[in-house]
Amino acid sequence: MKMSSMMPDVREVLISSEEIQARIRQIGERITEDYRGERPLLIGVLRGAVVVMGDLMRNIDLPCEIDFMDISSYGSGTSSSGVVRILKDLEEDITGRHVLIVEDIVDTGLTLSYLRRSLLARNPASLEICALVTKPSRRRVEIDVKYLGFEVPDEFVVGYGLDYDGAYRNLPDICVLKPEVFGAGSGG
Ligand code: IMP
Repeated sequence: MKMSSMMPDVREVLISSEEIQARIRQIGERITEDYRGERPLLIGVLRGAVVVMGDLMRNIDLPCEIDFMDISSYGSGTSSSGVVRILKDLEEDITGRHVLIVEDIVDTGLTLSYLRRSLLARNPASLEICALVTKPSRRRVEIDVKYLGFEVPDEFVVGYGLDYDGAYRNLPDICVLKPEVFGAGSGG
């Protein structure tokens, strides 16, 4: 593949797109086994989960549906505010459904823990979490991620849906930016 024009901003590729694709194939196979006979509803958290959702759903060999929610826990900076707001709610009624939350990254866990609680209150038949990346050293609340892609160290990562100040989501690899990139944009 042609090298991305964003690569000069990248200090290090932590997880290559080939590794990501291989892992997503495995996770898709596990989900296919675990939900055999069901019609799961995958719920993506905007906007970061759009990329993993697109690849994951094509690796699940079952009839399934997707829906999206937008919640905000971050401003344009790189640290958690702890404030979670629903900006866009689901279109689907999840009562009695087998729901799988699809997230890009679990950092402090605050976002997912809030989302999990608010979805459980709507009485789904089951509720599990799939996250491509986790930063365990940053966790502030316990969160059970049944389908997990990769662990990364305590670094701010971008690419494969993850942004810094709105950009870099379209990088195919998961990368760490050069320090001089932070603060150079419009935001924090
Ligand atoms: P949490 O509530 O702290 O677990 O944060 C979850 C959200 O913060 C993710 O869905 C991302 O949008 C954002 N986030 C956390 N860490 C990173 C990172 O390293 N890169 C990009 N976004 C991140």
